[in-house]
Amino acid sequence: MKTERLRVDLSGRAYDIVVGAGVLKDAGTEIARLRKTRRVFIVTDETVSRRHLPILAASLDAAGIGHVRCIVPPGEASKSFAMLERVVTGMLEANLERSELIVALGGGVIGDLAGFAAGIVKRGLDYVQVPTTLLAQVDSSVGGKTAIDTPQGKNLVGLFHQPVLVLSDTAVLESLPPRELKAGYAEILKYGLIADADFAMWVGANAQAILSTAGPERTRAIITSCGMKARVVEADEREAGQRALLNLGHTFGHAIEACMNFSGRVLHGEAVAVGCVMAFELSARMGLCLREDADRVRSLVAGAGLPSSLKDLPDLGAGPEDLVSLMLQDKKARNGRLTLILARGIGKAFIASDVDEATVRAYFADIL
Ligand code: NAD
Ligand code: GLY
Repeated sequence: MKTERLRVDLSGRAYDIVVGAGVLKDAGTEIARLRKTRRVFIVTDETVSRRHLPILAASLDAAGIGHVRCIVPPGEASKSFAMLERVVTGMLEANLERSELIVALGGGVIGDLAGFAAGIVKRGLDYVQVPTTLLAQVDSSVGGKTAIDTPQGKNLVGLFHQPVLVLSDTAVLESLPPRELKAGYAEILKYGLIADADFAMWVGANAQAILSTAGPERTRAIITSCGMKARVVEADEREAGQRALLNLGHTFGHAIEACMNFSGRVLHGEAVAVGCVMAFELSARMGLCLREDADRVRSLVAGAGLPSSLKDLPDLGAGPEDLVSLMLQDKKARNGRLTLILARGIGKAFIASDVDEATVRAYFADIL
């Protein structure tokens, strides 16, 4: 399949998303075409560096672009102040100039961490996202949200900093473990659940193809997801309104991740999968959508082999009150009141502000 090029059309900060098999080996050419730079600073993790850094390095060498590297441990725990300090220090020690680029080679953890570091060093360096997980290719590499986690909650320290280019090589997904592929599938399904019931059904019907082979279904899922995200980001870059819809399942999911101390016992995509089911179940309990919609969402999630309820996850060690407190740390909370993404049906998500805490607490009390 040929390489596809999508555009995120942000005034003054527009950039391309390049999707296709073998994009990584052309990274040097793509970067050279974007900017005449003598050097890039690569941030990656140990797992990705072993598997995919040699191809990127060779491509940069061939384009005459030097490279310095900073390699962090894999996993969510690297979205920390300690790791941010390591990456920022590496950038300063390399004495990066503003004309030089950061390259984030890895999953969402690397993209969020490297993008944040790029945003604060020398008041902002440009960076290229080279996402290597399905989740990062369909979501985190696009849109410029960067952040680290803290004990108070997920993604609470960070900034909006758009990349200048996204290079998504679908071939690198061949080395991704099945569990990580499923985590990415959850974010693909999320787009359909938010705004496109037909896409949600297509994703469900093609789950095995998306998860098991690098065939046209997976590529179509990546391109459709990137296109949907690009349109939302263009309309509301800094989440003043409708971009919050992309957080379907996330307020629940982030609370679940925080209960696990961001240890990786539950992957972000798994927490989002359970969170999407919860958002529909709560919507059904509140009379906003049909019970059948919530049941359908659960079967779309479970049908892909993802956890669909808290019972499928390790024990949270938390009660309804703890979960509601964690949810109130969410960036969407207003005047100490919960804002959640709820739904009037599949493909009909909406922003519900001022959600009654007692209703949410009672829901947790029933399911825990
Ligand atoms: P991740 O970055 O931890 O990657 C998952 C695992 O896969 C890691 O162990 C990594 O080493 C490994 N890996 C990566 N690429 C590989 C490959 N090609 N082959 C083999 N192994 C590979 O996790 P993720 O799921 O990509 O990202 C999750 C993070 O993304 C969360 O922190 C979440 O908050 C964030 N996120 C951010 C946004 C955003 O808009 N910025 C959106 C969604 C999620
Ligand atoms: N992943 C949610 C967003 O980018 O807004």
